[in-house]
Amino acid sequence: PGERAENETEKGLRVQDKGFLNTAVIRSEITYIDGEAGVLRYRGYPIEQLASHSSHLESAYLLIYGSLPTREQFKHFESEVMRHGVMHADTEGFFRSFRYDAHPMSMLTSAFSMLGSYYSEANPSLQGQRLYTNGDQASLATMDRQIYRLIGKATALAAMAYRVRQGRDFVTPPVGLSYTGSFLYQMDHLGEENYTPNPVLEKALDVLFLIHADHELNASCTTVLQTASSLVDPYSAIAAGCASLYGPLHGGANEAVIRMLVSIGSPENVPAFIEAVKRREKTLSGFGHRVYKTSDPRSFIVRKTADEVFKVTGRDALLETAMALHDAAMKDEYFIKRKLAPNVDFCGLIYRAMGFPMDFFPVLFVVPRVVGWLAHWRQMMLQEGGVKIWRPRQVYVGAGKRDYVPVEQRV
Ligand code: ACO
Repeated sequence: PGERAENETEKGLRVQDKGFLNTAVIRSEITYIDGEAGVLRYRGYPIEQLASHSSHLESAYLLIYGSLPTREQFKHFESEVMRHGVMHADTEGFFRSFRYDAHPMSMLTSAFSMLGSYYSEANPSLQGQRLYTNGDQASLATMDRQIYRLIGKATALAAMAYRVRQGRDFVTPPVGLSYTGSFLYQMDHLGEENYTPNPVLEKALDVLFLIHADHELNASCTTVLQTASSLVDPYSAIAAGCASLYGPLHGGANEAVIRMLVSIGSPENVPAFIEAVKRREKTLSGFGHRVYKTSDPRSFIVRKTADEVFKVTGRDALLETAMALHDAAMKDEYFIKRKLAPNVDFCGLIYRAMGFPMDFFPVLFVVPRVVGWLAHWRQMMLQEGGVKIWRPRQVYVGAGKRDYVPVEQRV
């Protein structure tokens, strides 16, 4: 003390790391990213292999439990997730209480939080300090149930947020469809007999779900863990993650991409737009990434998926503008120097072609990302040594001690 440099404390060196560029807060076995080489792996498996051969729900099991499931394990997982997809009837009133034009992300964020109110085990103070323990089967069963519920109900809540705005009745999840097929049914079904979703679109959405399922410690996942570090229930932690994802620099970017393309209008306006970006008057949404300093590997899967979808839906009129924008940015010194390349958010074009409204795009990001949030939450809860509350420090740069001044003496 006294001799200590300003950034040294009794616990070590305090560094200021704005935006956490160089701060690791956890040791993780879930997702590996090499941002320089454009590599993304879930539990060691390359994202390209999973997108080609796996399904969203199978990859969800992999992300959460660490290995690809056997047939039996998958059957059990799928049936539990699907069984928990049904909502309590009272939730209809909850959704109908929103203003007619409420943003679906506002509804969804609130809905995750509301979900916790249905389950008494959600309140950690009822359970004592250590909620989950590796050897304690009962606590692990509780955790599994919470995982099934949150993944199962994510599609139901999303579909309810959609249908209430369309003035449609809510539908119960059907029996016999896949996770993604059931989601499309809950969104689109208008009472037709023998309704089934288009298989090409169902597969395409499932691939998009799979590639959005996790991306290590992005803003929303960090928010989930930060929130859960106080040992709050997972429903509240997921609600916090949902709120974080809503922002235009994160999950809101897929919506921002379409708004940007609409505002550009057509390919001949691209050069002027690029110049405005370089003057910092505009943002090129769908470009740039905190971790990737080359093309996001998911962007190639998005492009391939788009080709499949457009065969069914027809080409989107904005596609030409998107391609002109991509080509212009990839050749421009401003973007090359800053290593800015396409990220995953051009998937907004696919969502638009499939008929989803623009403000629903971030919801299509949340539904699969619930899986990644839960994988990280489970890992943190079960880590050796227990959970340590996340409490960063600041570098205080405000006023020194001042004495209170009565209002009549203030100038
Ligand atoms: N358009 C124009 N310039 C950009 C862009 C962009 N999209 N992205 C970064 N830059 C510039 C910055 O202005 C900065 O320039 P400077 O060094 O001259 O000041 C430089 O590139 C570095 O960018 P940072 O903002 O420091 O990078 P950071 O890692 O903090 O931000 C982010 C990453 C938020 C994703 C950013 O690239 C961005 O705003 N992109 C557009 C929004 C978007 O697409 N977000 C989705 C991210 S992916 C996801 O959530 C799935």
